[in-house]
Amino acid sequence: MNRQIQLRLVSFLSVFVFGDIAGQEDMPAEPSAAVYSKSAAGRGKSFYLINCQQCHDADGRALANIDFIAADLTAPDTWYYGTTPLHIFRSIKFGAGLEMPPFKDSLDDETIWQIVAHVLNIGPAEFRPTKE
Ligand code: HEC
Repeated sequence: MNRQIQLRLVSFLSVFVFGDIAGQEDMPAEPSAAVYSKSAAGRGKSFYLINCQQCHDADGRALANIDFIAADLTAPDTWYYGTTPLHIFRSIKFGAGLEMPPFKDSLDDETIWQIVAHVLNIGPAEFRPTKE
């Protein structure tokens, strides 16, 4: 099974397990093709540095922040709010926990998908975007 199908399968199954995702207002039903694209991840990186770096650090590991513990974005096995592309999209758009702010009023969906691609790109190798 190739990676893209694996990723699709994981996000498809998660909709059944976490049914609330699909039902949430303004949530897309499936991930944008951007999450498989290296060039989208490259654009996402610049949006990431502007919007996320202050809490998650430039490398995503959030080691420098001493005010609170932001998630280590390179280690999805430590996350609480889901690790599929749709979950990451949701955490960015609507926020996660008490201290991760929602970006629904400042970033459009296309930009959020590019940031999702970047987050996947700094995570485990098997989830990284593979297309140009
Ligand atoms: C004001 C600080 C702050 C900013 C800015 C911020 N985050 Fe977060 N983020 C957090 C904190 C703190 C958590 C952990 C929340 C928790 O576990 O309760 C978090 C959690 C997350 C999670 C969920 C991890 C999990 O446990 O499932 C993701 C994904 C994430 N952030 C991505 C981003 C991205 C991408 C951006 C930029 C668009 C961003 N964050 C901007 C503070 C921030």
